[in-house]
Amino acid sequence: MVKRLLFVCLGNICRSPAAEGVFLSLIHAQGIESNYEVDSAGTGGWHVGSPADSRMQRAAKRRGIDLPSKARQINSKDLNYFDYILTMDNDNLSLVKSMAKKEKLSKTPIIKPILSYSDNKKLIEVPDPYYGGEKGFEEVLDLLGDACLGLLKELVTSDKATLH
Ligand code: 4NP
Repeated sequence: MVKRLLFVCLGNICRSPAAEGVFLSLIHAQGIESNYEVDSAGTGGWHVGSPADSRMQRAAKRRGIDLPSKARQINSKDLNYFDYILTMDNDNLSLVKSMAKKEKLSKTPIIKPILSYSDNKKLIEVPDPYYGGEKGFEEVLDLLGDACLGLLKELVTSDKATLH
């Protein structure tokens, strides 16, 4: 069964498109793209239709990662569609959880901070790099690299468990 993943941040131009690109590059490298549907969205709508922030695109490109997404705002249909909703910070997490509470869901998605999948438990939120310098974008990619790898390992393991 295809697993559907949605990464969520505030503007959907920095952190969540980066998470989407990092995860896509991992599944591409392993040749398992067809097992996943991956998307990202923002809780805010200011940047709808925009590509990822050029600073984030440059930082990702330096690691060989493309960021293909155009910003969109999360909506109630997403809560019924996606299996996993992975948030970047506590504000995104509580907003998505409260949206989910208000909806009549046919099945409840797993809503978790993306960093809960990281081996490195120092941080629970991916810092917003929007108002900072280049270094912030690199740090976001480092954090997302670890966390997306942890997430993929868990998804692959749970797939194997359901096959046996
Ligand atoms: P993101 O970063 O949530 O990681 O996409 C931001 C992008 C834009 C804004 C805030 C955060 N903004 O206020 O426009």
